[in-house]
Amino acid sequence: MGSDTRSTAAALSDVVLRRAIRADLPEVSALERQCYGDPWPASAFASLPDNTRVFFSVARQPADGSLAGYVVAWYVMDEGELANLAVAPSQRGQGIGRSLLDAMLTDALARGTTQVYLEVRESNVSARQLYRTRGFEEVGRRQAYYRTPIEDALILRRTLKPELR
Ligand SMILES: CC(C)(COP(=O)(O)OP(=O)(O)OC[C@H]1O[C@@H](n2cnc3c(N)ncnc32)[C@H](O)[C@@H]1OP(=O)(O)O)[C@@H](O)C(=O)NCCC(=O)NCCS
Repeated sequence: MGSDTRSTAAALSDVVLRRAIRADLPEVSALERQCYGDPWPASAFASLPDNTRVFFSVARQPADGSLAGYVVAWYVMDEGELANLAVAPSQRGQGIGRSLLDAMLTDALARGTTQVYLEVRESNVSARQLYRTRGFEEVGRRQAYYRTPIEDALILRRTLKPELR
């Protein structure tokens, strides 16, 4: 798909983004299992909606309310970590992942965060490309960090520059 087509699709996607609440968690966990070979257990999400140091948002389709995706980030001092980002397989390529990532970056800026880190599988071409378009750069590698299948993680960092605040 060319970038023009992607941009058009992105403009047409009409999801609603909002903070996650506890009622979202069963669907979030189900989508997590669809998206990853090594999914977070449901318990990993349980306390996140109530944690003020966490940004946890869901994207839902306005027509039927179905869950399109979610993003999780947490903050320590002036650093953020993008911990999870996923879009339902049938709804990828419509700009939803980028919208969730942008929402997280906007939140990070509002909190005075200066750097955002994340880990990504080396083979995850689509995610790496998405992060590249949002200014993330490779700063390290964790060998055999992932299981199922075993794979290195690349550590990416995005510096949030003062002029963007
Ligand atoms: C990575 C993921 C969140 C992207 O979500 P998405 O909604 O499909 O992404 P978008 O439609 O917003 O695409 C944004 C950009 O990502 C990149 N991208 C997305 N899909 C791509 C693909 N199949 N190939 C190459 N680049 C791709 C492009 O740069 C795209 O920009 P463009 O549309 O201007 O070309 C989604 O593929 C996913 O949930 N994957 C499984 C979970 C995962 O790997 N999460 C990341 C863990 S670090």
